[in-house]
Amino acid sequence: MTAPLIDPFARAITYLRVSVTDRCDFRCVYCMSENMTFLPKKELLTLEELDRMCSAFVGLGVEKLRITGGEPLVRKGIMTFFDAMTRHLDSGALKELTLTTNGSQLERFADDLYATGVRRVNISLDTLDEAKFADITRWGRLPQVIRGIDAAQRAGLRVKLNAVALKGFNELELPAITEWCAERDMDLTWIEVMPMGDIGNENRIDQYWSLKDVRKTYAEHYTITDLAERTGGPARYVRLEETGQRIGFITPLTHNFCESCNRVRLTCTGELFMCLGQEDNADLRAPLRDHPDTDAPLREAIRAAIAHKPKGHDFDYSRQRADGQMSRHMSHTGG
Ligand code: GTP
Ligand code: 5AD
Ligand code: SF4
Repeated sequence: MTAPLIDPFARAITYLRVSVTDRCDFRCVYCMSENMTFLPKKELLTLEELDRMCSAFVGLGVEKLRITGGEPLVRKGIMTFFDAMTRHLDSGALKELTLTTNGSQLERFADDLYATGVRRVNISLDTLDEAKFADITRWGRLPQVIRGIDAAQRAGLRVKLNAVALKGFNELELPAITEWCAERDMDLTWIEVMPMGDIGNENRIDQYWSLKDVRKTYAEHYTITDLAERTGGPARYVRLEETGQRIGFITPLTHNFCESCNRVRLTCTGELFMCLGQEDNADLRAPLRDHPDTDAPLREAIRAAIAHKPKGHDFDYSRQRADGQMSRHMSHTGG
């Protein structure tokens, strides 16, 4: 029996987020700069290498695999990788195979994803207004995403919507987005905008809408009940008694949830980031590529990296005001 991955703060690491590409067909303003350049394709882990990496983590006790990007579904051949992961679901080692997507390609891939064993997808959508959607994604088309959501639901996938809470952008849409999700029997999670990535002239401080205030807005419109249940991620949930739906809150700024962190992040070039909000990372590509016939050095490198997982992030808008924000883009580490 292999020893589980335990970090220095006694947290068991059972959740791996894997960014399979830094590319995206959108350019959300809080995520990427307008003229972002992408990595040359040869820098990326191949699909076979991604399989080896993920399988090594599963062998070390990872039970939840979330595929992210960039936009994971724009990675060429990605369904081959999902197919390969099915064997870990079949063996029972992996409890959940899932993805976070912008929804643009779901019309094409929803059925195939279901066939590989995916049962739940998180879709990022911050507004239901077509013009505002085109603005925030720089050129995305909302109807395409809605068709993707419909296809996902038709395929039998449970859908959760992720909306980044943005002052002056989607504040007034809160009831509309909530009702829209309720009509479709979808959960909805709000995320506090994090100070990451160089976004040109814009400043996240002006966009920051605390989820304390979002919660207050819900309390004004609905009867809310706190729920103890979790989905294995950072969100805390309430139920809206009037609609029965769950609303999640991901609050890296107002309520640091790091004490119960169970996850690490693999980038598409094979770096392992121990925390979204810290720069500590370990290169796993070298131990993988230098030893094509054995995973022992890779497993050792994973254990050594987890032994240095920091206690938590230190996102802080007051410090950001003085020091500037973290330059790494969210698309690099996969959110
Ligand atoms: P569920 O499985 O549905 O619980 O999903 P999840 O919340 O684990 O994954 P999802 O991709 O929906 O995460 C939503 C967002 O939460 C991410 O894109 C990040 O912005 C944020 N997030 C997730 N994990 C962390 C974390 O460890 N630290 C911080 N600061 N933010 C996180
Ligand atoms: N702060 C908070 N969430 C962000 N995302 C991207 N950039 C940021 C940011 N700076 C979210 C996306 C998506 C997920 C992958 O990360 O909206 O839901
Ligand atoms: Fe693409 Fe998601 Fe970043 Fe938007 S948030 S640019 S959809 S990776």
